[in-house]
Amino acid sequence: MSKKNKFAGRDFISLFDFSTKEVWEIFKLAKAMKANPKRYQKSVSGKIMALIFEKPSLRTRVTFDAGIKQLGGDSIYLSPLEINLGKRESVYDVAKNLERMVDGIMIRTFGHDVATGLAEHASIPIINGLTDLEHPCQAMADFFTIWEFNKKLEKVKLAYVGDGNNVVHSLILAAARIGSSISVGTPKGYEPKPEIFEKAVEAAKKTGAKITITNDTIEAVKNADAVYTDVWASMGQEKEAGERKKIFQPYQVNSELMKHAKKNALFLHCLPAHRGEEVTDEVIDSKTSVVFQEAENRLHVQKAIMHELLRG
Ligand code: CP
Ligand code: NVA
Repeated sequence: MSKKNKFAGRDFISLFDFSTKEVWEIFKLAKAMKANPKRYQKSVSGKIMALIFEKPSLRTRVTFDAGIKQLGGDSIYLSPLEINLGKRESVYDVAKNLERMVDGIMIRTFGHDVATGLAEHASIPIINGLTDLEHPCQAMADFFTIWEFNKKLEKVKLAYVGDGNNVVHSLILAAARIGSSISVGTPKGYEPKPEIFEKAVEAAKKTGAKITITNDTIEAVKNADAVYTDVWASMGQEKEAGERKKIFQPYQVNSELMKHAKKNALFLHCLPAHRGEEVTDEVIDSKTSVVFQEAENRLHVQKAIMHELLRG
C-alpha cells in the first residue's frame, strides 16, 4: 500500500504553510531532483498548471514553466492583460473556472489577499509566485542554496540589508522554521511588518532561530555567513523609486560592508538586481556571490513543491 501524500492538494501561499519537517522534505527532494532530473520526468505526467502573472518576471515564469514540463506536465501562461483579477472578473469566479480546467495555479500578484482568496475558493493547489507580502518559493530556494554550501542551517547567520519587503518577510519566516539566525538591517520606517516579525519570533521559540531587526547595517552584517539584499523599490513602488534611492543609499551592500561579515561570506540576491544601487558590481560579481546558482535553484525547489502538491 502506498503511503498517503500529506502534501497532496495543499496550497503554498506563505512559507509558514510548511512545517519545519516539511521544509526539509522539500529540500531533500529538490536535492534528489537536481542530482537526477531524469528520474522525475513523468512524476506529474499530464498535470497542467495555470501561471497567472499580474507583474513582470523572468525567473519565476521560466522556472515554473520549465519545471512543470520537466516533470511531465504542462503550463498555460496568463499575462497581466489576460485576467485582470478582481477588475475584469472576481477572484471567486476565476477560482471557480480554473479549478475545472487545470490541476494547479501559480499566481504572482499585488495583494496577498488575492492569493489567499484564490486558495480559499479553488479546490486545486495554489502556489504563491510573489505577492506584496511574501515570496515563499524564493526563500525556499535561498536557504536551499545556503545548505548546498555545506552550511548547517541551524548554525547559519543570514544578514539581510535593504528594504523590509516581501522577500525578507519570507526569509524571516523561513529562518524561523529552520532555526537559522537572521539579522535584518533597514532604514527607519522601512522595517519588515511587525505581524511577520511577531509570528516568526513565536515560531522561533520551537526551533531556536534568532531574529533581529536593526537600523545599523554593520550590526546586521557582523559575523554573517551570508549577506542578502534586494531592490530598494519593489514592483508596484516605481513612483517612490527616486525618494527611496536617497534613503537607502547608506544601505548599499558593497565591499566595505562585506568586510564586516565572515570571511568568504556568501552573497545572495533574489534578482533582478539594480547594480550600483543596492549592490555594487564588485560584490555581485565576486567569487562568493551565488546569485545565479540561487536563481537556478528556484527550478529545483519549485519542482519539488509542484511534485508534492500535484501528484495526488
Ligand atoms: N526572483 C524573482 O522572483 O525573479 P523574477 O521577478 O524575474 O521572477
Ligand atoms: N522585492 C522585489 C522582488 C522581485 C523578485 C519585488 O517585489 O519587486
